Amino acid sequence: MAMIAKNCPEHKITVVDINQDRIDRWNSDELPIYEPGLLKVVKEARGRNLFFQTEVAAATTDADIIFVSVNTPTKMFGEGAGKAADLQFWEKTAHEILANCRKPEVVVVEKSTLPVRTAEAMAKILESGKSSTKFSVVSNPEFLAEGTAIEDLTNPDRVLIGGEQNDHGRKAAETVAALYAHWVPQERILLTSVWSSELSKLVANAMLAQRISSINSISALCERTEADIAEVSKAIGMDTRIGSKFLEASIGFGGSCFRKDILHLSYLCEYYGLPEVADYWESVVRINEWQTNRFFQSILQEQFNTLAGKTITLLGFAFKQDTGDTRDSPAIPLCEKLLAEHACVRVHDPKALENARQDLKEIQGDISFVEDVYEAADCAHALALVTQWKEYRELDFERIFQAMAKPAFIFDGRNHLDHKKLYEIGFNVFPLGKMPLKHL
Ligand code: UDX
Repeated sequence: MAMIAKNCPEHKITVVDINQDRIDRWNSDELPIYEPGLLKVVKEARGRNLFFQTEVAAATTDADIIFVSVNTPTKMFGEGAGKAADLQFWEKTAHEILANCRKPEVVVVEKSTLPVRTAEAMAKILESGKSSTKFSVVSNPEFLAEGTAIEDLTNPDRVLIGGEQNDHGRKAAETVAALYAHWVPQERILLTSVWSSELSKLVANAMLAQRISSINSISALCERTEADIAEVSKAIGMDTRIGSKFLEASIGFGGSCFRKDILHLSYLCEYYGLPEVADYWESVVRINEWQTNRFFQSILQEQFNTLAGKTITLLGFAFKQDTGDTRDSPAIPLCEKLLAEHACVRVHDPKALENARQDLKEIQGDISFVEDVYEAADCAHALALVTQWKEYRELDFERIFQAMAKPAFIFDGRNHLDHKKLYEIGFNVFPLGKMPLKHL
């Protein structure tokens, strides 16, 4: 919304959240999320045509367009538990819109990732009341990635807008398209049906995640043979039909979208009587969990199958670099497994320590969160790199090695470090999808 406010100064944009603390932070220089470049965009528009507040009714009464971006977590109870989306916040919002809107025509834009056919449910709720407002529900999924959000929004590959297939729906979709047209070239704005748009979002995330699971599965094969995953990724990525992006082997993908969206997709397939398709997509998630576990197993094995009392330092906890977000980070199951083995776990992350603390607060064991990376590595038996923060490449590994217990191990869950150099310093180095470099 900050980006729309920045590029469309003639429109007044109000962001509403019922959490007062979060809104206070949006109104300060300490934004509630870490996202490179965001503060600058917010500051440019805030107080001019961008406002943050907590009053839902006041903000919706005169609105012409309402973007619904409430969270849709995976449902943890009843029918579809563990797979389907929990739509309770979303339904509550639909009722609030119905109760408050006063304009004769209102476009409701579905921004949250939702399973297909939810816009239809929203439309039904909006039509159920006695409101004189004519509502149109439009789907406009978001494709930005965290850490590169501003870049992705400034120069999107495409903007997808799904509208109902009638004159009213088309007009609503065009109203939303006109906002983006302020800075996005016309040919990159795609108008589709609501259902195609909703499904495309799930499929885009599923396809991206599938590439990671594919390359991660091959990383295991590389470790058993003489192949090197970086060479394989490069060789296959140069085929223009495959392309080079999203082929980096890792400890596993995380983030708020991939797992959740694939499980939605799989649930939908099951619901529509396609169990084979459901199973195909679910295997992407299974391989992801397997890969994180494989990483843990290699730490355990190389520590002579005993981690009790040993200190393992995590370099990074966020699900990727340049964000403080830890949702579904592979660091969470990794820590759980390490603690179950009675290891002493030390976590370092430049931006995610507070979230890490929250994520692990219910888990028993010897765990500490350390702000200084050298302190975190002091006397550790092994380092496990989870997040590819740039600063980890620039660490003084000679100093770290001197301070660690010997033999010193490093497990690189991102193939982010200079393995040869680390080996020369004296580390036993365990990359992903490559032969380990061992002194032992
Ligand atoms: C993703 C989609 O990219 C974005 O379009 C959608 O709007 C939201 O979900 P995001 O979750 O922010 O974005 O991050 P992304 O860059 O896609 O990374 C997801 C996970 O995959 C991270 O844990 C990342 O480290 C991992 N990843 C990515 C790999 O393990 N290997 C790769 O080659 C690429």
